[in-house]
Amino acid sequence: MTFTDPGTLTPVLTDAFDAPRSWTLETYRDRGGYRGLERALTMEPSAVVETVKASGLRGRGGAGFPTGLKWSFLPPPDGGPRYLVVNADESEPGTCKDIPLLLANPHALVEGMAITSWAIGGEHAFVYLRGETVHVYRRLLKAVREAREAGLIGQGVGPDGAFNLEITVHAGAGAYICGEETALLDSLEGLRGQPRLKPPFPAVAGLYARPTVVNNVESVASVPGILANGDDWFTAMGTERSTGHGMFSISGHVVNPGQFEAPFGITMRELIEMAGGIRPGHRLKFWTPGGSSTPILTEEHLDVPLDYESVGQAGSMLATRALQVFDETVSVVRVISRWTDFYQHESCGKCTPCREGTFWMKQVMHRLEDGRGLPTDVDLLLEVSANIAGRSFCALGDASATPIQSGIQHFRDEFEAGCTTPARELFPYEASAIFDKAGAL
Ligand SMILES: Cc1cc2nc3c(=O)[nH]c(=O)nc-3n(C[C@H](O)[C@H](O)[C@H](O)COP(=O)(O)O)c2cc1C
Ligand code: SF4
Repeated sequence: MTFTDPGTLTPVLTDAFDAPRSWTLETYRDRGGYRGLERALTMEPSAVVETVKASGLRGRGGAGFPTGLKWSFLPPPDGGPRYLVVNADESEPGTCKDIPLLLANPHALVEGMAITSWAIGGEHAFVYLRGETVHVYRRLLKAVREAREAGLIGQGVGPDGAFNLEITVHAGAGAYICGEETALLDSLEGLRGQPRLKPPFPAVAGLYARPTVVNNVESVASVPGILANGDDWFTAMGTERSTGHGMFSISGHVVNPGQFEAPFGITMRELIEMAGGIRPGHRLKFWTPGGSSTPILTEEHLDVPLDYESVGQAGSMLATRALQVFDETVSVVRVISRWTDFYQHESCGKCTPCREGTFWMKQVMHRLEDGRGLPTDVDLLLEVSANIAGRSFCALGDASATPIQSGIQHFRDEFEAGCTTPARELFPYEASAIFDKAGAL
């Protein structure tokens, strides 16, 4: 059931993106910022958890796990530390929402971290940020400093001085696997970033073996709105099981790519229309609903509501709403070959199916892209990918198999053509380039 009118945008986190100096505390407060924290600090922590549970907010980092429920998994306080760790490692190909959000509206995250820490009883929270984004790192440091100087976080703040919070912003060294929550925790502790065996889950033994909540940037930044406006306000947007607003990032062959914050349940057809349509003279060939790790979809899926359940039923995953649009000039084999290079490069090497399998798939994809494929290669890809998916230690292995399997499912002919004809002959690069050599559109 959709509660919001079709085709409606709901700018909440992105509302101030075009405001002058949108990233400053002054602008954020002028627009009602920190009202959510003010209200949360008058409530019992358990009531804050219940409010977020009632809002139906689901994790925006990919898996869509209910946020309030995750918080409630922490064991009762035992006098020792408990942590919130924000996952800002965003690096999935196509995914580009957390970094713009941090750049334009960092106080939404700082306020969300303060409310979340109050709710879970944490006094020290961390942001694990992708280190290459130095400008975002600086902006986040400044936002934390502003909040501390304004007495919004720090020691003995809040109405009766009962709230203590320090925030540490940590810049990672740039590895996709460090976005996996347990590899992230190892990296934050100074170890090599590789996934941990679960259980124990981070809620029980996370950072420094203490109870820890790991949440995505957009999940945490969505919390202030819920506290300021109430869970009813949030559930009035979206669908029954995928509530609220979310950032949909459209890239590729549309006229105006960008961020579109909309209720869950909006369709790709509506979003493409808002993005000015497919570039003139071309038509849609395929798209991803949530980055390179989600099975590709085609024109027949344009009216699927973009909520967790409907996209799952359509055979894919909503994940991070990284909507990459490819028109008919694009070689599916070439795109999937680049993604396979990425997964092979980012495989952490801990388990055999992913370490060996991604390397093998990369070699096969390269010969198909070059028109030198063997007649057995398409079936070989299906076999190797089936031995990675579901048999790897973490979801990176599954992610590497998905594009190959869905690519062959929808475009097997193109893969088979790779046994005789290079992709560059079938689909010249120039035809799919968005910019010409002079950099013009
Ligand atoms: C290889 C890999 C990379 C990931 N990268 C990210 C990331 O960059 N950001 C993120 O929030 N979650 C990422 N995740 C998902 C996290 O493990 C985790 O589910 C998420 O941070 C939980 O937050 P949420 O419940 O708020 O969505 C990744 C998972 C895997 C397997
Ligand atoms: S699936 Fe890949 S990334 Fe994950 S543990 Fe195994 S080798 Fe490392």
